[in-house]
Amino acid sequence: MTTIRQRVADFCDTFGLTVPVLQAPMAGACPVPLALAVARAGGMGACGTVLDAPERIGAWMEEFRAGAPSGVVQLNTWVPDRLSLSAGERDNLARKAEAFLERFGAPGTVPVTGGPRPYAEQCEAMLAARPAVISSIMGLFEADYVRRMHDTGVAWFACATTLEEALAAQEAGADAVVAQGMEAGGHRGSFDPEQAERTDIGLFALVPWFADHLRIPVIAAGGIGDGRGVAAALALGASAVQVGTALLRSPEAGIAPEWAAALDQTGPEATTMTRAYSGRLARAVSTPFLRAWEEPNAPRPAPFPDQIALMARWRAGGAPGIDPANHFAGQSAALATSEPAGDVITRLWRDASALLA
Ligand SMILES: Cc1cc2nc3c(=O)[nH]c(=O)nc-3n(C[C@H](O)[C@H](O)[C@H](O)COP(=O)(O)O)c2cc1C
Repeated sequence: MTTIRQRVADFCDTFGLTVPVLQAPMAGACPVPLALAVARAGGMGACGTVLDAPERIGAWMEEFRAGAPSGVVQLNTWVPDRLSLSAGERDNLARKAEAFLERFGAPGTVPVTGGPRPYAEQCEAMLAARPAVISSIMGLFEADYVRRMHDTGVAWFACATTLEEALAAQEAGADAVVAQGMEAGGHRGSFDPEQAERTDIGLFALVPWFADHLRIPVIAAGGIGDGRGVAAALALGASAVQVGTALLRSPEAGIAPEWAAALDQTGPEATTMTRAYSGRLARAVSTPFLRAWEEPNAPRPAPFPDQIALMARWRAGGAPGIDPANHFAGQSAALATSEPAGDVITRLWRDASALLA
């Protein structure tokens, strides 16, 4: 049986890392300085591109390479959902959500757009940028794209929330699976958006389950906030960990001050699962705005990505009571510190190494 140390060393050797800690790709919270800080500390930087125009992806990568020519980085996007509702049903849900939002104030009058940018063009831009890794969430890449990635020397990490999804990813050629526990901040990566509430598996159950059934490495994500979490995930069978919320209060993340403040001292009980920001299930700090959507008479938020567009309109109107930014947070938000991101990565691995020694 491979030892923890050997499993981790193999993963780090394969991907050119000195520290088995990956920055989570976080769309909207992935500025270049954050990825640079993580990569310079020996981990893997990341950019979640789902909201980015294709030309922005190339520019992001150029800036990253200029700052860390040998830094290791992953680019990520969301595989689009298969539409399960008719246009009429979507419209109906959007109208109900719109009517509910009116209780917070009026929408802006200037047209705004929000939500994912064209997927096929994003995939081409990511490939052209030639990162070490391209990762998927919410589904799997097409076979032809996977072949082109591998021909170019780019590895594929696939996010999975159940064993069925993980096995499908392995079968489709993924080089590693990101096991996303239900503790994770941001969106759940469930391939079927309607199943997200039912498949809320904790990381302690998910990682050994994946490790026992997969041939490819497992990367643990969700609620890992300090060296104890890193050591536990590696002991459970992961080859590396991926952290998101733990980096959000670092100055390099540059998130909205009210979001950073909401993360401070947010214990596990104070986060909630919501569809109110985007229509897809996500974990965030439980704010008064999100709690309003949990009231018995509240409608279901509009489906993804219609709810994002609605939120963009109401935010543009400056409606009071609407969270000005999505307050995404994992269950270990209270462990996030305002240290520089590189120091966070170094501390996580130093403390985990001491525990695993
Ligand atoms: C603000 C935020 C944005 C996120 N955006 C993405 C994304 O675009 N793509 C993705 O694969 N995962 C995304 N995630 C999920 C992370 O990849 C990861 O699963 C999660 O951060 C791990 O849990 P933690 O936040 O408790 O560390 C996001 C997470 C956060 C907190």
